[in-house]
Amino acid sequence: MPRPPPIRLLTTTAVFTQLLRPAAACCKRQFIDRYNLTGTALPTAWHNLTVNEARRQHVMTAMGFVPGLLFDDPRALRLEFGVRNGDMISYTSATRPASWGRDAVVASSLPWDGFDSFKGLPKSTLNAAKLGWGAGKYSVKGALPKVPSHVRLHVGWFNETLPPFLDGLGRGPVAFAHLDADIYTSTISVLDALAARCRLRLGTVLSFDEIFGPKGIENEEFRALNEAAATHGFAWRFITYLNHPKTLFGRAAVQVTGLGQRCAGVARAEDGGGGGGGARGGPGRRGKKRGGS
Ligand SMILES: C[S@@+](CC[C@H](N)C(=O)[O-])C[C@H]1O[C@@H](n2cnc3c(N)ncnc32)[C@H](O)[C@@H]1O
Repeated sequence: MPRPPPIRLLTTTAVFTQLLRPAAACCKRQFIDRYNLTGTALPTAWHNLTVNEARRQHVMTAMGFVPGLLFDDPRALRLEFGVRNGDMISYTSATRPASWGRDAVVASSLPWDGFDSFKGLPKSTLNAAKLGWGAGKYSVKGALPKVPSHVRLHVGWFNETLPPFLDGLGRGPVAFAHLDADIYTSTISVLDALAARCRLRLGTVLSFDEIFGPKGIENEEFRALNEAAATHGFAWRFITYLNHPKTLFGRAAVQVTGLGQRCAGVARAEDGGGGGGGARGGPGRRGKKRGGS
C-alpha cells in the first residue's frame, strides 16, 4: 500500500502563498472587474519587483497623470497622509515625472508635506480591526523619520494638523496626495478637509495604498472616497491600479474629473479660469457602483 505523504509544516510564506493567496486573488479580481479597472493596470513585469518597489512605481506612475500646469503651479501641494518611517515620501519627493504623460522621472526638490501622528492608527471600527488595523498599528512611538529637507512633517492627528495647515501655510491646490492611512475615519477626515476648502482641482491625483483586497476593505479608504465625492460634489475616475500577486492589498489612484459648482467657482477665481490645467482622459466618470456601507 502506498504510504501517505509526510505531513509538512508550512512556513509563513507558504501559508500566505498556498492558503491566503487564492482568496486574495478572488477578491482583488472581483473589484477590478466590478469597477472595470482593466486597462489601467501597471505592466505585469512589475510583479517581479518586491511589493515595496512596485508600490513606488505605482505611485510615480499615478503622479505622471497630474497635468504639468498643476504640478508646476508654485502654490501646488504635494501631500502624504501616513508617513510612518518616511520610506515612500522620501522616494516620491526626490523625483517627479519628467514630462506630462511620459513614463520617466527626474530629480526634484519641490516641497512636500507629510502628515502623521507617528503613534500609529487611531482606534477605529470593528471592520478595521478585522483587517488588522487596530489602534496603534504602525506606531513608531513618536520618533520622526529622517526625510529630505524639502519635506515638511506635520506631527499629530490629521483632524488637528490638516485644517490649520490648509488655512495658513498650505493655501494651494492639491496636485498629488498619497493616502496611506488605511482606515475610513482617517481617510475621510483628510478628504473632507481638502474638499470642503476646495483644494481639489480638475486633474488632482489621489493615490490610495489599500483601496481594495480583502473582504470588508471597501468600507475603509474606498468608502471615504465615495462619501467625500458625494458630499462635496466632485467626480473622479480610476487611472492606475496595482494588483501585486504577493500581497492581499490592491493599490489604485484616481483623478478628479469634475468639481461641484462652488469649488468650480473657487478654482476659476483662484486659478484664473483653468481650474488646474484639466484632467487627462476625457469626461469625468465615477466608479460604476457607489462604495460605502
Ligand atoms: C501604513 S503607515 C504609512 C506608511 C508609509 N506611507 C510608507 O509607505 O512608508 C500608516 C500611518 O498612518 C498614520 N495615521 C493613520 N491615521 C492617522 C490619523 N488620523 N492622524 C495621523 N496619523 C495617522 C499612522 O500613524 C501610520 O504611521
